[in-house]
Amino acid sequence: MDGILEAIFRRRAIKVFEPAEISEELREQIFNAARHAPSSFNSQPYRFYWVGTAKEKAAVAKLCMGQKPAETASALVVAVADIGSLAATSQGQLEWMRGRSEFSEAKIRDYERTAKIGRILFMPGPFGVFAAIKWWMFWLLNLWKVMGMPPLFRRDLFKWATKSTALACENLMIAAEALGINTCPMEGFDGRRLGRQLGLSARYHEIVMVIAVGKKSQTYVESPQWRRPLEATVTIL
Ligand SMILES: Cc1cc2nc3c(=O)[nH]c(=O)nc-3n(C[C@H](O)[C@H](O)[C@H](O)COP(=O)(O)O)c2cc1C
Repeated sequence: MDGILEAIFRRRAIKVFEPAEISEELREQIFNAARHAPSSFNSQPYRFYWVGTAKEKAAVAKLCMGQKPAETASALVVAVADIGSLAATSQGQLEWMRGRSEFSEAKIRDYERTAKIGRILFMPGPFGVFAAIKWWMFWLLNLWKVMGMPPLFRRDLFKWATKSTALACENLMIAAEALGINTCPMEGFDGRRLGRQLGLSARYHEIVMVIAVGKKSQTYVESPQWRRPLEATVTIL
């Protein structure tokens, strides 16, 4: 437990890295930590792209506006909110449940039904037509019933997926820190060009952040870390 807290408090956004090899094992560990983050409906609506070869890295760093952390990192992780993965994810979970004795037939059927409802609910339809109809239905329902508004329009879906993606990113950065490597999250990038570079579809994918991964340069000195006081960020009711 102390180790986790130590990694959280030690982590800094590192702006200059020195050349270092990131082993496959380490890479796997940080991605494993990332995917263990909680996600809405356990839908894990993201995909991480590991950019490790010199040529690809240089191209992506350029699209991060040549920022120093991107230019000097050993690898760049592009974290993408992926709203096109939902059907495959629920199918994957269903197959996983079917292969395990802990889940009764009733439980599997229940999950199957919930997943189907989720898919219908999350389908914006052509030009957001279904989303608009559903939005009015939920709005009316909400007049007399306590309920949350599900993400209906494509914009809402990306916002929804971004939350889970960002949590996975934080897990990745804490895990990296605990394993002795450093990171810098970046949202300074040309999303349109970077999306094209990675072959992403604007319909289903949105880049949430790029994480520079590497070993902090020995010559780099972080400025002291400032945070707003607790009372400015917490309300105790
Ligand atoms: C969503 C997000 C976007 C960021 N974008 C950039 C960036 O484009 N370039 C950069 O150098 N740092 C970026 N940072 C790092 C922040 O500047 C840094 O986390 C903040 O100043 C606090 O410093 P610390 O993480 O060392 O405590 C970003 C951080 C976050 C969470």
